[in-house]
Amino acid sequence: MDARELIDRRYSCRTYLERPISDADRDALTAFMALKTVGPLGSDVRFGLIAASSDDEGALKRLGTYGFIKGARGFLLGAVRRGPGDLEDYGYLLEEVVLHATGLGLGTCWLGGTFTRSTFTSRFGGVDRDETIPAVVSLGYPGDDGSGRIREREQGTRRLPPDQLFFDGEWAEPLGRDRLDGHGDALEAVRMAPSATNKQPWRIVRRGGDWHFYLVRTKGYGKGSPWFKLLRIADLQRVDLGIAMCHFELVARESGRDGRWVVEDPGLALPAPGIEYTATWRG
Ligand SMILES: Cc1cc2nc3c(=O)[nH]c(=O)nc-3n(C[C@H](O)[C@H](O)[C@H](O)COP(=O)(O)O)c2cc1C
Repeated sequence: MDARELIDRRYSCRTYLERPISDADRDALTAFMALKTVGPLGSDVRFGLIAASSDDEGALKRLGTYGFIKGARGFLLGAVRRGPGDLEDYGYLLEEVVLHATGLGLGTCWLGGTFTRSTFTSRFGGVDRDETIPAVVSLGYPGDDGSGRIREREQGTRRLPPDQLFFDGEWAEPLGRDRLDGHGDALEAVRMAPSATNKQPWRIVRRGGDWHFYLVRTKGYGKGSPWFKLLRIADLQRVDLGIAMCHFELVARESGRDGRWVVEDPGLALPAPGIEYTATWRG
């Protein structure tokens, strides 16, 4: 299955069958995760798959996750070394694992919370002082039918329109269809990406061969929010940016558009406070 198809198929699956994850699927995921050790912005990450335990449903609520997760058979999680780009790298690499799991017929749901101090951490084998677990992903064979959610997404009721997300040269100018330069599918893959509370905080400004990725922060969410500081919840919107970078790169490459990630802020005038430059895909 190509990345486009996997991205179309993925949805946040919150109800799972009782069927345990097969040894073959577990081995395939573990082998894939073992290859995912360094993110595109240079952070070291290590991933693992842990089996679910009977008290996880309650534990997730206490950890500050939302949405009711029923019957997860396992969790994918990782520890990333703290540093610039750490949360984006975590989102990027774990989304690659999520898409691989989708290809195996598994359902997934990203879950943000205070995992670094949780029972999930001890089942993972602990984390070093300079590592953090920003989010986990629930895993199992889908017990619900995601077709309704996928349809809503495709009809646009659960996603922002392209002219509010993608810009041409400067922030005021929506990117026209004739200016996509073969990146239309990659941009659509960003639009379909999962994000915490579906806030879709990603924006992209194209300048020539450069696709500049920005984070538009939701007020009261993440960095600066006393609530998040108190709970030590990771800055999930930066994880969202990493997920979007993953979707963009996979589909751009599939469309025959190569490039690489650089962190070189072009210094564009920004239309509002709360917008942060993240990284650039240089084609
Ligand atoms: C970083 C991150 C954290 C998330 N945390 C939760 C969560 O705690 N509980 C939950 O039910 N869904 C969570 N989600 C799933 C989003 O709500 C979901 O991706 C979004 O609503 C879009 O729906 P879709 O994934 O079905 O396309 C999270 C997603 C991301 C990317």
